[in-house]
Amino acid sequence: MKRLRVLVLLDPDLVPPDSHKGYSEQEINAWKTEYDVVSTLRINGHDVRPLGVQHELKPIRDEIESWKPNIVFNLLEQFHGEAAYDQNVASYLELLRIPYTGCNPRGLMLARGKDLSKKLLSYHRIPSPAFAVFPMQRKIRRPLRLRLPLIVKSLSEDASMGISQASVVDTDEKFVERVAFIHHSIGTPAIAEEYIEGRELYVGVLGNDRLRVLPIWELEFRHLAPGTRPIATEKVKHDPEYQERRGIFHGPAQDISPELRARISKSAKRICRTLELDGYARIDFRLSADGIPYYIEANPNPEIASTQEFAHAAVHNGIAYPDLLNRILALGIRRASAAD
Ligand SMILES: Nc1ncnc2c1ncn2[C@@H]1O[C@H](COP(=O)(O)OP(=O)(O)O)[C@@H](O)[C@H]1O
Ligand SMILES: [Mg+2]
Repeated sequence: MKRLRVLVLLDPDLVPPDSHKGYSEQEINAWKTEYDVVSTLRINGHDVRPLGVQHELKPIRDEIESWKPNIVFNLLEQFHGEAAYDQNVASYLELLRIPYTGCNPRGLMLARGKDLSKKLLSYHRIPSPAFAVFPMQRKIRRPLRLRLPLIVKSLSEDASMGISQASVVDTDEKFVERVAFIHHSIGTPAIAEEYIEGRELYVGVLGNDRLRVLPIWELEFRHLAPGTRPIATEKVKHDPEYQERRGIFHGPAQDISPELRARISKSAKRICRTLELDGYARIDFRLSADGIPYYIEANPNPEIASTQEFAHAAVHNGIAYPDLLNRILALGIRRASAAD
């Protein structure tokens, strides 16, 4: 790949230093993705400028006009602190006619929220857990068609915000309590889904029109305390000490029949097409004991630190990390030239 000028958009609090030296593990963890992307793009020979933005569009425009980057690497997950504005940043880059990495604005919009994508996918008969949405300030009652246990989540927040062991409820009383907790503590409507007992599978997908499905990845819970349910809570996702203690481990999913593998892979592609995702995405499933892969959520622009699921699954598929980042750049450039 030829040498590119790459403008990396990121959160101003996560502008990475030039080296890990002198930082604690916790500090490194905070900007790990940003560090890995910026340093690896440099190793790949690109000319890289990180730009922290959060409240102003002008610095983006100025940098694009003065420095003339070939592409923007979009690591922004929010604007004005609003996760839902990420689609507007992608739209802005589109209007500036600058190629950018990752998902287009429409895909970001369709995948957002934990209800819309499930409604769209039911048209294509992709199995997903039965659910109901509970808006704020309404009487909270469990619809009888929803069977306990349920998992109660924020409708709009991600990164496991508000997800803990108490999210899974097995009585009506706990259910009402947890919905109220989401309303008051997270400040968003809630969604309750039937809890799918089973394995947690992640499927990375790379591509715009032609999609490449990465090996099926599994999040394993090896030493959970008795009575603890295997769900990806905040601690499971982001606390290295807890991960170590509880044997939280991710790796290639074993013991899945070729038929089931094919079904999951086909369904991941269909999900990307239905939700109009491009660039790179990770589709999350729960595999029930009777072998049905239930769609849980689609993550456009998933986390791509070198140690995370997406990058590991790519390596397992013969795509080393530096190569992965170059492919993500190439997909951004190809989309822009296809639109010309
Ligand atoms: N219906 C469900 N059945 C079983 N586990 C679930 C269900 N929904 C969510 N979970 C668990 O909770 C985790 C976080 O839920 P998810 O919908 O992916 O929210 P987030 O956007 O915060 O990641 C999942 O990775 C999974 O472990
Ligand atoms: Mg998730």
